[in-house]
Amino acid sequence: MYLGILLSGRGSNFLAIAESIRAGRLPGVEIAVVISNVAEAPGLAAARELGYPTALYISKSRKRAEHDADVAACLKAHRVDLVCLAGYMRLLSPEFIAAFRNRILNIHPSLLPAFPGLEAQEQAFAYGVKIAGCTVHFVDEELDHGAIVVQRAISVLEEDDGPSLARRILAEEHIAYTEAIRRVASGRYEMRGRRFVLRQP
Ligand code: GRF
Repeated sequence: MYLGILLSGRGSNFLAIAESIRAGRLPGVEIAVVISNVAEAPGLAAARELGYPTALYISKSRKRAEHDADVAACLKAHRVDLVCLAGYMRLLSPEFIAAFRNRILNIHPSLLPAFPGLEAQEQAFAYGVKIAGCTVHFVDEELDHGAIVVQRAISVLEEDDGPSLARRILAEEHIAYTEAIRRVASGRYEMRGRRFVLRQP
């Protein structure tokens, strides 16, 4: 299975996936290309340094559908089976989502459906939840909404502040993304409505 990673920033989720592949935790899975919409994204620089094929399509002031068509063509040229959004800070066009239906994963730093949108960890902390976490889900036309593949939860500690909670959630994200890719790559699942259900081997 070939992955296409889309990122806009730091790239720690990309690096965690790359490390899982290197360590043999995702047999049969390869990163075919890393694509960024932001020239200065540290994750893009890291991908170049590690020798992955990379592509840059600057999205600023471009029409969404046109930009996404370029990205989709690049993914197809690299024969990508599964698109992994890893801190990709741009909404996808309906055409893009339709072209990769149930083949786009996103990671979100909250236990969805709580706290969709930006700064989810800060939202959760300010709300005063006692349990926080992250979600890897398929992408559909609604923001942070598609079928859930993996969630990981942690307790909010008395001594937490927003940044410390975000750091501890990020550590869970790195585990969750690998687990979600493993589940999807196994092919041993079915969708029951919006429920992602693993089939027994
Ligand atoms: C993560 O918190 C992820 O959940 C959110 O954006 C952040 C990306 O971090 N979608 P990184 O670029 O993978 O380090």
